[in-house]
Amino acid sequence: MLALRIDGFGLDRIALAEVDAPVPAEGQVLLRVRAASLNFRDVLVARGDYNRQYPLPLTLGSDAACVIESFGPGTDPGSFRVGDRVSPALAQGWRDGPPLRDTVRHTLGGPLPGVFAEYALSRVDALVPIPSSLSDVEAACLPCAAVTAYSALAVWSRLAAGESLLSLGSGGVSAFAIQLGKQLGARVIATTTKPEKAARLEALGAEVVTIDGPGWGRKVRAHVGGEGVDHVMEVGGAGTLGESLQAVRPGGTVSLVGVLAAGEALAPSLTPVIMRNIRIQGVFVGHQRAFHELAAHLEEHPLSPAIDRVFPLREARDALQHLISGQHVGKVCLTVA
Ligand SMILES: NC(=O)c1ccc[n+]([C@@H]2O[C@H](COP(=O)([O-])OP(=O)(O)OC[C@H]3O[C@@H](n4cnc5c(N)ncnc54)[C@H](OP(=O)(O)O)[C@@H]3O)[C@@H](O)[C@H]2O)c1
Repeated sequence: MLALRIDGFGLDRIALAEVDAPVPAEGQVLLRVRAASLNFRDVLVARGDYNRQYPLPLTLGSDAACVIESFGPGTDPGSFRVGDRVSPALAQGWRDGPPLRDTVRHTLGGPLPGVFAEYALSRVDALVPIPSSLSDVEAACLPCAAVTAYSALAVWSRLAAGESLLSLGSGGVSAFAIQLGKQLGARVIATTTKPEKAARLEALGAEVVTIDGPGWGRKVRAHVGGEGVDHVMEVGGAGTLGESLQAVRPGGTVSLVGVLAAGEALAPSLTPVIMRNIRIQGVFVGHQRAFHELAAHLEEHPLSPAIDRVFPLREARDALQHLISGQHVGKVCLTVA
């Protein structure tokens, strides 16, 4: 089968390879991958910025829409059948509750083999049925980006109708944060460093504030008026946190999700966190209950994920370059057929 792998760390070590299809063991299923989606995580894993202990060669990719091809010997299929449309959860061992060190370690696309391939493995108890309203490409956007946004807004915090949400940038997690935030009845403000993206963010339901240098946290606060936003979806990390702390209201929540601006780290002052009782909540993707809850939510409240471009698996390296270019709004996807 065809698989997108690294045999060493570095973007130049990403290559398509013909490899043997994996064989499911007891408790596992063999999945035929129909579509997949890229996350910034794939870039971090390939560069070796995520964890240099990951075993090599490694098939990249954590998000896919699949059909069940077969069950490993002795596997209890539960409610699943061959041919069912499913997505494997990224954190294969995290069922529910707080993240334990061991349960968040077993993730697809590093250290476990990923899904940018014609076939992939998953634990049967880590499968989530695909909402009927979603196409394969749309469903492939859920496991990392959408589950992360949902966990931040509906599991580890409760974004309420009438509250305000600031979502940074226009990537996969942020686009879902905008769409889910609107569905939850919030007022959503999105920042972007690229004014040409404003119309596409507005089409998702956001009010757009363009970032044109330092001071944008106060600009956002002035935009919403009052004390600031109730909630921030923080995808930049150290390089943007100081501004986010200026935008959030006293007692508000910052969901710390990403590290896109880690290289611009300016050691933000944490004094506002104390002086204004701000809650900083780290969010690692989500447990499988969150994914099931999200799927049920989408059955009742369908949305069309923001899909920027779709590439065939054979052009996966171009797809990664497109993601790295930062030109996208929402998700960059792969079809695998
Ligand atoms: N905690 C978790 O479980 C989890 C799950 C998923 C993702 N993540 C992390 O969350 C982050 C976002 O992931 P993603 O897959 O959504 O990324 P992505 O699709 O690659 O998002 C890129 C977008 O973020 C914005 N951006 C980039 N650098 C920025 C900066 N320095 N300051 C402000 N905005 C910046 C840009 O938007 P504009 O062009 O509009 O400015 C860019 O287009 C990554 O760090 C990723 O590792 C974490």
